Amino acid sequence: MAKESFTVTPWEVKGDIDYDKLIKKFGVQRISNKELEMLDRLAPLHLFLRRGMFFAHRDLNVVLKEHEKGKKVVLYTGRGPSGHTHLGHIVPWIFTRWLQKAFKAKLYFQMTDDEKFLVKDLALNKTKNYAKENALDLIALGFEPKDTKIIYDTEHIDELYPFALKIAKRTTFSIAKAVFGFNNSTNIGLSFFPALQAAVAFYAQEREGGKDVQCLIPCAIDQDPYWRIARDAAPYLGYPKTATILSKFLPGLSGPAGKMSATDEANAIYTTDLPEVARKKIMKAFTGGQATVEEQRKKGGNPDLCTVCQWLYLLFEDDDKVMQQRLEDYRAGKILDGENKKYLADKVVAFLEEHQKKREKARDVLDKFSLTS
Ligand code: TRP
Repeated sequence: MAKESFTVTPWEVKGDIDYDKLIKKFGVQRISNKELEMLDRLAPLHLFLRRGMFFAHRDLNVVLKEHEKGKKVVLYTGRGPSGHTHLGHIVPWIFTRWLQKAFKAKLYFQMTDDEKFLVKDLALNKTKNYAKENALDLIALGFEPKDTKIIYDTEHIDELYPFALKIAKRTTFSIAKAVFGFNNSTNIGLSFFPALQAAVAFYAQEREGGKDVQCLIPCAIDQDPYWRIARDAAPYLGYPKTATILSKFLPGLSGPAGKMSATDEANAIYTTDLPEVARKKIMKAFTGGQATVEEQRKKGGNPDLCTVCQWLYLLFEDDDKVMQQRLEDYRAGKILDGENKKYLADKVVAFLEEHQKKREKARDVLDKFSLTS
């Protein structure tokens, strides 16, 4: 078989991702009109659903049906802190806030401050510190302490451990090797870690009323391997299977391939970037334009290759009519790259200015969100 030209695992995303292939490879479902209609009955569809940023799922149909019959839903998502938060990270969190209102659900948010310590060359006090910094970004998106609990693995391990143990006992090393690509040089901390990430799904169900509660996980599709472990273990623990709603990756600014990596600074915009720094990054972004202005006026640009168009489409231009018109004009050569970049940069700067204010305010309430507060 030909080698895939892309890689998607929980610890590595690279190449030009073919999402149709990925759906088949992972064995997940594409979100259908049926699910969209059911979601629309709960709340007007979020941009991420209208534009296909969230595109796949496992058992979302089950959750929606059960919810219509009156069953309770609990949400679970998380972050493996290894640095500051960038815009790609907050895509699922923004969507989680929408889901939280739509389902009137509690959210459990796991900060795996152990994960990147195990995977990367990062000190434990660094990952713990980033966990608190990243939590500020979550809180800034409008979550409230009464229905949002943040779990820090290194602080709250006693709560998760019984659940992790039960999952670990049911997960053989050969399954873990197949699902995560572990090998003989994988450290043994990492080989246990998936049990801990899966544990929160059941922990959240247990806290919110037990076996009848449905757990729905909004996240990027690279996390899917964990949920295979969780779903396999669910019958042994006696819970309904973990359901997911999965997103694509926000493309990086320097080109359409892969996700917005946290290791290439200019490729990503961080929530902590000074607005002028963010503007500069956007002004240097990879576009779908032509070599010269004359050529672009004549031939038009290609929005499919253009990270600026993509960021507008996927995240920053909520108005469907305006977006439609802009894409048309870009293709026709009526909108040039400089202008398009400025249009995006203005939106990003406005977002950052707001977000950064809220982020600073969040410091005062950070402790209230902690699982054990
Ligand atoms: N492994 C995730 C990361 O590296 C963090 C995480 C923990 C997570 N639990 C989650 C992500 C649940 C999504 C859903 O960022």
